[in-house]
Amino acid sequence: MPQPAANLGKLPPYLFAEIDRKIAEAKSRGVDIISLGVGDPDLPTPAPIVEAMQKAVADPANHNYPPYHGTEEFRTAATNWMKTRFGVSVDPATEALSLIGSKEGLAHLILAYVNPGDVVLCPSPGYPVYNNYTLLCHGEPFTVPLLAENKFLPDLSKIPVDMAKRAKLFFLNYPNNPLGAIIDEPKIKEIVDFCKQHDILLCHDNAYSEMTFDGYKAPSFLSVPGAKEVCIEMFSLSKMYNMTGWRVGFAVGNPDAIKALGTVKNNTDSGVFKAVQHASAVGLNQSEALTKDLNAIYARRRDIFVEGLNKLGWNVARNEATFYLWLPVPTGMKSVEFVSLLLEKCGVVVPPGTGYGAEGEGYFRVALTVPDERLKEVLARMEKEGVTFAQLAKQSASV
Ligand SMILES: Cc1ncc(COP(=O)(O)O)c(C=O)c1O
Repeated sequence: MPQPAANLGKLPPYLFAEIDRKIAEAKSRGVDIISLGVGDPDLPTPAPIVEAMQKAVADPANHNYPPYHGTEEFRTAATNWMKTRFGVSVDPATEALSLIGSKEGLAHLILAYVNPGDVVLCPSPGYPVYNNYTLLCHGEPFTVPLLAENKFLPDLSKIPVDMAKRAKLFFLNYPNNPLGAIIDEPKIKEIVDFCKQHDILLCHDNAYSEMTFDGYKAPSFLSVPGAKEVCIEMFSLSKMYNMTGWRVGFAVGNPDAIKALGTVKNNTDSGVFKAVQHASAVGLNQSEALTKDLNAIYARRRDIFVEGLNKLGWNVARNEATFYLWLPVPTGMKSVEFVSLLLEKCGVVVPPGTGYGAEGEGYFRVALTVPDERLKEVLARMEKEGVTFAQLAKQSASV
């Protein structure tokens, strides 16, 4: 057999491999594993979307290849939603594109822009696709650290001018996975100005725009005047309406970037099943009603878990967006050490912060994707087994 492309060897090692092995081993001992690991909603897709899909799937008109750029119905629903939700005008014909989930759009955007040696500005901690697909395209990821002391926002003054000059793309994502962090409009403006100054295409991955709590509304980067000159934004229906398995999202923004991405896609995939696009349009047309109930459930889970963790010695604030909590490991411990202990002692699975880049050391991520009772069970096990910030930080201080 020939060897796979050398670039595959550049990808970081699969951090979950050791955890997967431990999960399998614990399961074989009959341990009741609780996974707070993957950001995959446990709740079903809302009924209006499922019902629209059931009808659409029976219609032979939906059984052939879809238009490459997405059906007119879907692109119009997406752009109408951009207008009502953010006040942003985008032309459904030239500034919008259906995606087979936003992961696909992110990866193909890199393929559309990166020549060998081009720099891509990638946040760390960050969603791994930005960094890893850059490597697959022979590009050079440059790490932009997102640090607690900067409220997990990029410090643009720390990006060297030569890197900014060589950069083609800058990926950001707010509300953020894995950090749960949010961004405000003045900071977006600063980033847009930076990208204009250095001729960089800004890609804002807005997969969690609708998962917000306590009255907070997340912005679109395109709502900053002039942003469209340098910005493309990706949206995903995966987390908006619990549709991770349906594989649907859309890109909006700069028409040149939409065109370049569309060219890669024309030559790669054949679009999203028309029935899925129809059901998605039905969802987008009644978006607020659908997300309200889901967000109430996530906010309640967050309250239960944050309150419980604080009783165990953490000092955690309630985040206003995403179903992720980004939590410090007890002082003196490494991320992988703590998540292994949590699995071994409590049967609870969480990813180490280092799974999202070296800057994630010292943290772990929790995805609130299990019902209230299971979250309470996690907290009870942690207390019973002494896997608490208070106890472990004390232990490592006395070693
Ligand atoms: C930040 C971020 N971007 C993009 C995606 C991809 O979402 P999808 O491909 O399901 O639309 C995810 C999924 O977890 C994510 O967390």
